[in-house]
Amino acid sequence: MKNYSQVKTLRIGALLLGLAAVCLSPGTAGAAFQEPLTNSCIACHSDLGVERLSRPVTLWASSVHAEVGNTCDGCHGGNPKDPTEEAMSAANHFSRGPKKAEVTAFCGKCHQELSKYFKDSAHSVTGTQNCVQCHGAHAIQRISIEIIAPEKCGTCHDYAPADKLKTVLLGLHDRFGSSKEKIRKIYGLPTQPLVDQLGNVWNQLRQVRMVSHTFDITRVKKKAEEVQAVMATMESEIVRLEEIEQERKLLGWGLIALFIVLSIVTWWYNRTEKKTKQL
Ligand code: HEC
Ligand code: HEC
Ligand code: HEC
Ligand code: HEC
Ligand code: HEC
Repeated sequence: MKNYSQVKTLRIGALLLGLAAVCLSPGTAGAAFQEPLTNSCIACHSDLGVERLSRPVTLWASSVHAEVGNTCDGCHGGNPKDPTEEAMSAANHFSRGPKKAEVTAFCGKCHQELSKYFKDSAHSVTGTQNCVQCHGAHAIQRISIEIIAPEKCGTCHDYAPADKLKTVLLGLHDRFGSSKEKIRKIYGLPTQPLVDQLGNVWNQLRQVRMVSHTFDITRVKKKAEEVQAVMATMESEIVRLEEIEQERKLLGWGLIALFIVLSIVTWWYNRTEKKTKQL
């Protein structure tokens, strides 16, 4: 009996010691932690004394590509895990900045569909404008319709065709924005189907933006008309919900008015009742 309880105490003691060792050990947390990998392109280029070589890092850091994690190697190739200049070897499929004629294919590695449309455009065929001239190479921002402006688009040709394109795109943007705002304001009714439709329209708008890279007004207008038809369906559904909301509001106010009138009548009735009893 005595032996047995001794063994038991020993076992419990060992278990407690083991637990203490696990809790106190400095190695447990340390072993699970891994230092984030540094990107050798960014690490080395930030420290290079030559402006031409270091500036792309600061420009890129402010870009949409930095935001979505498209680092130097996404565009230039190379091996971002190699800390030596071997990172930029041909074996690592490294490519320096592209020449003017190569830009479309360079960006088109990822923006495939859009680049296909652009290849057909007057700008591409005449070799006058490429992706980088309109969007930049390193400081590329989320798009804005303001890229189309007289200072930028009125130098080689008349601004009129650019303005036409801008009007079509802006019309769609505004109409989309206005529907979004109206849907946000609808209160107390199920709007999820409308929110889904809005998402669908947004995807189609992206398609128009891609086709806009043909810089062919007739093609862009045709695509825009398709989206306008979908927008019209969504808009009539918005109007229907707005009307229901309006009717509900009217009914609500009507009920409140009725309640007030009834309260006044009851109060008046009680008062005259009291007075007649007192008499
Ligand atoms: C150890 C430092 C170091 C690393 C790592 C490094 N570079 Fe470079 N890079 C340089 C130097 C120095 C030059 C200029 C000499 C040259 O052109 O080879 C250069 C040149 C370049 C150029 C061409 C500039 C030109 O002359 O047109 C590009 C583009 C570039 N690097 C991108 C990258 C990318 C992308 C990576 C990562 C995959 C990378 N670099 C990794 C040091 C480095
Ligand atoms: C979105 C694609 C893209 C990304 C991402 C990108 N570059 Fe570039 N880079 C270019 C293009 C395009 C050029 C060609 C120059 C031009 O047309 O302005 C270029 C040129 C360069 C040059 C030569 C500059 C010159 O004036 O000769 C260097 C150096 C360079 N890039 C380094 C980098 C480094 C370092 C990174 C990461 C911080 C990076 N790039 C990320 C597209 C990119
Ligand atoms: C002549 C100027 C111009 C050129 C050249 C150009 N773009 Fe654009 N790009 C624009 C404008 C303007 C918009 C925004 C249109 C809008 O807001 O409806 C845009 C929009 C975009 C978008 C956003 C599309 C989306 O999905 O919403 C991407 C991505 C893009 N461009 C990439 C490129 C690439 C890659 C190239 C080269 C193959 C290129 N652009 C050439 C002017 C240009
Ligand atoms: C390695 C893939 C890759 C390459 C190469 C690349 N991009 Fe991108 N780009 C992306 C991703 C991913 C996004 C983010 C898309 C999103 O969030 O909708 C993006 C976004 C953009 C946007 C903003 C679109 C928007 O919705 O506002 C523009 C403009 C753009 N890229 C232009 C370029 C240009 C110009 C080049 C060539 C110099 C280029 N990209 C090369 C992957 C790439
Ligand atoms: C470096 C010169 C240059 C710049 C800058 C330029 N374009 Fe062009 N663009 C051309 C050339 C060349 C043509 C084809 C010949 C023509 O129509 O004049 C063209 C044609 C067009 C067309 C087709 C015209 C038609 O009648 O079919 C549109 C639309 C257009 N550009 C829009 C723009 C927009 C938008 C911008 C600014 C973001 C812009 N362009 C900036 C050179 C340029």
